[in-house]
Amino acid sequence: MRHRASFWQLALVAAVSAAVMIVVAYAIPWLPYPASREAGRINFVFWYAEWISIVIFAVVAAPLVYSLIFFRVKEGDMSDGPPVHGHTGLEIAWTAIPFLLVTSIAIASAIVLAKNGRAGTDPLRITVTGQQFAWTFTYPNNQTYPILRMPVDRHVKLTLVSKDVLHSFWVPELYQKQDAVPGLPTHLVVSPTRMGVYPVICVELCGLGHSTMRSTAIVMSQNAYDAWYANATKAASQPAPGGANAGLAVFNANGCSACHTLTAAHATGKVGPDLDKLKQEAAGAHQPLDAFIKQSIVDPNAYIAPGYQKGVMPESFGQSIPAPKLDQLVQYLASNAK
Ligand code: CUA
Repeated sequence: MRHRASFWQLALVAAVSAAVMIVVAYAIPWLPYPASREAGRINFVFWYAEWISIVIFAVVAAPLVYSLIFFRVKEGDMSDGPPVHGHTGLEIAWTAIPFLLVTSIAIASAIVLAKNGRAGTDPLRITVTGQQFAWTFTYPNNQTYPILRMPVDRHVKLTLVSKDVLHSFWVPELYQKQDAVPGLPTHLVVSPTRMGVYPVICVELCGLGHSTMRSTAIVMSQNAYDAWYANATKAASQPAPGGANAGLAVFNANGCSACHTLTAAHATGKVGPDLDKLKQEAAGAHQPLDAFIKQSIVDPNAYIAPGYQKGVMPESFGQSIPAPKLDQLVQYLASNAK
């Protein structure tokens, strides 16, 4: 009788422990709802391991709590417990079962990892460039944009590169993370399943502006994507040489909009000074507008606008933007300053 009673008490503690864990697991939205096939698979592995953890937690918590209650030291009893050799069957069980469970998690993970690496025969290829402190996205039309647009239900193969230091690409709703390493292109396959607007975040400490290195990923219908892409490609194919479009292309290709506001470019960044107010800033720095703009790009720490910090704007643009493009950018910014 004593044995049967203790079994039910143990089972009760196990059930309560499991219930608490289930509430903690499900009541709190630990992960965003998956927005891609890859994220769905990762989500499966997560919950598979989660459920194993819940069961093991309950099985461990039950004898622990039971022992705390029923095997407390009795008043005046200072004797040792009875010497117990052990229980071979139990030892085999608690070695074999975790071995099988952990192995099954490893197998599930390996299958998901392999599947998540498959881009099919004809993926949309986009190059993702990380630089201090912006993400830019280059499409098959060779144009570069500050926002990642992807059609729903298609394999997209991202190639990640970095212009300076280590960055890491992360869209929480896509679950996957991948480093952008200077000199070593890395890859990520994304097959979006849910339309929406998601944040793109840098998750590798990459300098003073790391926390501001954010962009947006938009998953759109195939039709909307096709329309955008056709339009964007057309706009790129007919720039007036040296004109406004050329300057805008340089602005977008270098991720300026991630940090700066410029009405003409529909840029709303708030990290660096507002480029609509360049005339005021140039006057504040007592410099002619064009020279001021050029200096601010090439040698950004020479003059810091009031309220901003040194060392946030990368100093590499002088080398990374070729001279003619730099001039187009300066002209573009000067002509749009108010
Ligand atoms: Cu780039 Cu942090």
